[in-house]
Amino acid sequence: MKVIWNNQLVERSAVVIDMEDRGYQFADGIYEVIRVYNGSFFTMDKHIDRLFTGAKKIDLTLPFTKTELQKMLSDLIQINQIDTGNVYLQVTRGIAIPRNHVYPDVANVSPVFTASTTIVPRNQEKMNSGITAITLPDTRWLHCDIKSISLLGNIMAKNEAYKQGKEEAILYRDGKVTECSSSNVWMIKAGTVYTHPDGNLVLPGITKMVLLEVARKAGILVKEEAFTLEQLKSADEVFSSSTTAEAMPVIEIDGTAVGTGKPGPIVKQLQQLYLDAVE
Ligand code: PDD
Repeated sequence: MKVIWNNQLVERSAVVIDMEDRGYQFADGIYEVIRVYNGSFFTMDKHIDRLFTGAKKIDLTLPFTKTELQKMLSDLIQINQIDTGNVYLQVTRGIAIPRNHVYPDVANVSPVFTASTTIVPRNQEKMNSGITAITLPDTRWLHCDIKSISLLGNIMAKNEAYKQGKEEAILYRDGKVTECSSSNVWMIKAGTVYTHPDGNLVLPGITKMVLLEVARKAGILVKEEAFTLEQLKSADEVFSSSTTAEAMPVIEIDGTAVGTGKPGPIVKQLQQLYLDAVE
């Protein structure tokens, strides 16, 4: 499998990452995970737009245009013959010496771009059975809208869930549910679907964007409105959403069954609507 290293397609073993790379030292960079279905990118434009928006927020000048990036990624999945899988890409601010918190002058530094592919089938089994979750305080920073490679807060939460034998951590801040450690979160009460509005407390998920669109088109009542931990725990249905997991039912939270303890009718409908959008 080839990878992208700056503007080259190379073997992974050929990539050299400098210990003075600001991504390595400060997690000074951003990333994307894009899904490939049947040999084609899904919602590629939206991912690229989010990458460019994030770059602007951190004053990072990307080393390519949107069209150039699209071409490089398309070449990568073609050469690696990815039918159903993921592309992971990241851009760091680059190598700057000596280590200094202040952003280096753009004239003296070139961003470092890497991208790789993984073959990952749709996890139909999990989507049918659902996952278990715990709730945890959201101790992350206040720029969760930036898809930053600085993910310690997220991985600490996810790891705590795994230590407790559960699969995801649902985070809350000031009593309101924000998102999960690596996905957005939704609840359904009396036929209405709720999810936290975009802003600095959550990632503006692309899967969320697609689900909002298909749900509204299908006449499902959706509100981008924050809900409390208590509302979450008395919800009829709960699910998470991400590029890799699509719409994933959550069937147990903090040891208590959600609704009937099985994926409910609305999440099942949303899974089908999402699949229709993919195909
Ligand atoms: N995670 N919120 C967080 C914190 C995430 O890390 C992700 C995605 C999402 C959902 O975003 P999207 O629908 O655009 O994938 C929400 C990716 C998949 C990851 O880090 O692997």
